[in-house]
This record gives sequence, structure tokens and C-alpha cells, in this order.
Amino acid sequence: MYSEKVMDHFYNPRNVGSIENPDGYGKIGNPTCGDLMELFIKVDDDVITDIKFRTFGCGAAIATSSMVTELVKGKTICEALEVTNKQVAKALDGLPSEKMHCSVLGEEALEAAIYDYLTKTGTHRELVEAIDEHRKKRPADDHH
Ligand code: FES
Repeated sequence: MYSEKVMDHFYNPRNVGSIENPDGYGKIGNPTCGDLMELFIKVDDDVITDIKFRTFGCGAAIATSSMVTELVKGKTICEALEVTNKQVAKALDGLPSEKMHCSVLGEEALEAAIYDYLTKTGTHRELVEAIDEHRKKRPADDHH
């Protein structure tokens, strides 16, 4: 039921670990299953130059976390914010529909890490506001 890409990223997750003194850090929990993801980014001139994650969660959460890091490494923070959990699932050749909620963890942790970077540096106020809006609009049942 899982694609080969999902299995590959589950068995060999990319960019696992942490970064000392990250420029941005995000920690997101899934309130329903209790799974947890931490994301660390290094940013240089608004480009994500390094990214690491730690996910305490199911196989789908680990595979999607890994794919998120692959997709956004080298992207600007603006471009990275455009990456959605659906794109991540697509890049993994799909996820079973009952596991789609697991992919939200990666999107939210990335958003939280970028938010942390933006508020720490005091740059791109418009992006901070956009993330605030996005969070307000996020449906309460987004996870399940
Ligand atoms: Fe919790 Fe997948 S079951 S993230």
C-alpha cells in the first residue's frame, strides 16, 4: 500500500538530525496521534542552505519529513513556504488517504521554522503576516 519512494524515505530518511544554533527551529505535534516533528534550518541570504529533522512518528510521517527536507533545501524561504503537504505526498508517488494527515506535520514544522527565522531576524513582515493568516485559516480538522 506504500509506494517504493515512501519505503525508501522511511528506511533511509534524508537529513535526519539537528543543527546547532539553527537560524530557525520549529516543533509541531499532531494532537490526535501524539506524533512529533522538530525541524532545524540554516538560512543564508534568505536561502535554506541546510535543514535537518527529527520525527518521532509513524512511517508516513518520517517519509514525508524526509521528502520535505529534500524539496526545500536550496530554496528561498518564499519558495519553501509554497510547498504543501499535497506536493510532498505527490513527490513520494502518493500516500494512502488515511495517512495524508501525517504529511501535514512536515508542512507545519517547516512553516514554524521559517516563522521562527523571520521573527528572530525581524525581516519580511509581510511573510510573517501571511503565515499568521494561513494559521488562522487552517481548518481545525486538518490533521485528520
Ligand atoms: Fe501520527 Fe502518522 S500516525 S503522524
